[in-house]
Amino acid sequence: MAYSEKVVDHFNNPRNMGSFKKEEDGVGTGIVGAPECGDVMKLQIKVENDTIVDAKFKTFGCGSAIASSSLATEWLKGKTVEEAGKIKNTDIVQELNLPPVKIHCSVLAEDAIKAALADYQKEPTRSNDRKERTMDATTNTDAQAPVITLSDAALKEVKRLINVQGIEEGGLRLGVKGGGCSGLSYTINFDDKIGQYDQVYEFDGVKVIVDAKSAIYLQGTQLDFQKDLMGGNFKFVNPNANKTCGCGESFSA
Ligand code: FES
Repeated sequence: MAYSEKVVDHFNNPRNMGSFKKEEDGVGTGIVGAPECGDVMKLQIKVENDTIVDAKFKTFGCGSAIASSSLATEWLKGKTVEEAGKIKNTDIVQELNLPPVKIHCSVLAEDAIKAALADYQKEPTRSNDRKERTMDATTNTDAQAPVITLSDAALKEVKRLINVQGIEEGGLRLGVKGGGCSGLSYTINFDDKIGQYDQVYEFDGVKVIVDAKSAIYLQGTQLDFQKDLMGGNFKFVNPNANKTCGCGESFSA
């Protein structure tokens, strides 16, 4: 499948890549995932006097998703909040000449715009708890702090599993992917490989690995373990999640 010239241009020279601090006044943040492919997009708007004065994105996905989010940030700038809500994925498809197989990538951009607008609109009510957060999920101003921590119960259970399974290499890999009933879902598994861009933390001899993409969405999360009659479950306690589904495996942010 060949990408159109416009997709290639946005892919090679993405506009407005980056992020704002979530707690900044006037900032709305949308994080969405595509169940079709597991890709994830974060889009932010900065609003002053009802006009979007700036927009930024970070996308972990295909060329069409990167181009869609890059184009979306270009279109958002200068629009009122109401006008921004009218941007449709079909406009993006048309502008970038996306083939049918890539339409879901443009849907991701429309969903991200809507999520950012919704977040902006409810922003005043959340300003207090936002300020309590010590770190911004994406700018990582406190590079020393781990992205994720383990509760005592989780650490104990992970150690038990390492013993039972005889794991000697690597560590516990925690991540996020698109999909699940709330848009994004957590992944947890043992991995004996550590990649170049992985972040690795050690808790009492237990290595925890987080890839660069997931680190954005897991900032400040604690992995907990809760016992029940079936033995127990790991639980992600994620301050970035707006909504978590009943099973605890899926969330939206
Ligand atoms: Fe996943 Fe394009 S293939 S967003």
